[in-house]
Amino acid sequence: MTSVSEGTTSERFTAALRSTTWDDHEKAERTAYMEALLGGKLSVPGYVDLVAQHYFAYVVLEDAAEAMRDDPIGSKFVFDSLLRVRALEEDLEHLLGADWRDKVRPSESTKEYCDRMRAVCFDWAGGYIAHSYTRYLGDLSGGQVIRAALERAHPQELADGKGVAFYYFPQISDFKAFKVEYRDRLDNAPWDEAEQQRVINEALVAYQLNTKVLAELGHDLPRYLIA
Ligand code: HEM
Repeated sequence: MTSVSEGTTSERFTAALRSTTWDDHEKAERTAYMEALLGGKLSVPGYVDLVAQHYFAYVVLEDAAEAMRDDPIGSKFVFDSLLRVRALEEDLEHLLGADWRDKVRPSESTKEYCDRMRAVCFDWAGGYIAHSYTRYLGDLSGGQVIRAALERAHPQELADGKGVAFYYFPQISDFKAFKVEYRDRLDNAPWDEAEQQRVINEALVAYQLNTKVLAELGHDLPRYLIA
């Protein structure tokens, strides 16, 4: 049984995680690239580069998920229903054609992001969890706003979920319930305060690296806007 005091401490973890990272969430959300995307101003080729950057990052994140399957804590945060690499491959094939692998490359910021995940997500459950929380809970939240904006801007090119499969989670019927369950697992992870702080710090790093990727995509913005 969890005692009341443990319950209170763990309850505070997801609240602390969210409140400590929310400024960085705003920074990611307010990058020029994201604002163009949400405003329906991004061309399809401009969007494709984001898909490609996601692809490289999720390959590392989901390799880490495989490595975590045997970890007593990390394994509780490995969900087959979340895995995105297959969807990203389908999106890239739809958007760039069968030879898409020859047409994509990681940006400098994506390389840095991937290096960080390689360093902390394979043998530290907290690191893996910080990075997966930052991406997947975002995909289930703001990701749905992003998908709606993309589909509104490009109803023909992105019809029937094609090119935006990344944002669809066919195995998750109730996103809200899923997020509640995910947060419960975070709150029940057997971490002391120092470890909780380390996880929060790593989520901050994850946000900052994501923002860097988006900022770098923004360098090409004039080229990426709908003519
Ligand atoms: C334009 C972009 C974005 C919009 C409009 C957006 C919007 C939102 C909204 C409305 C929520 C709250 C959902 C809820 O309470 O269940 C949320 C949560 C979240 N977002 Fe975003 N978001 C964006 C970008 C991002 C990015 C780039 C990341 C990370 C790389 C991210 C990560 C997260 C995470 C981890 C949460 C869950 C926070 C928590 O409750 O613990 N979001 N987002």
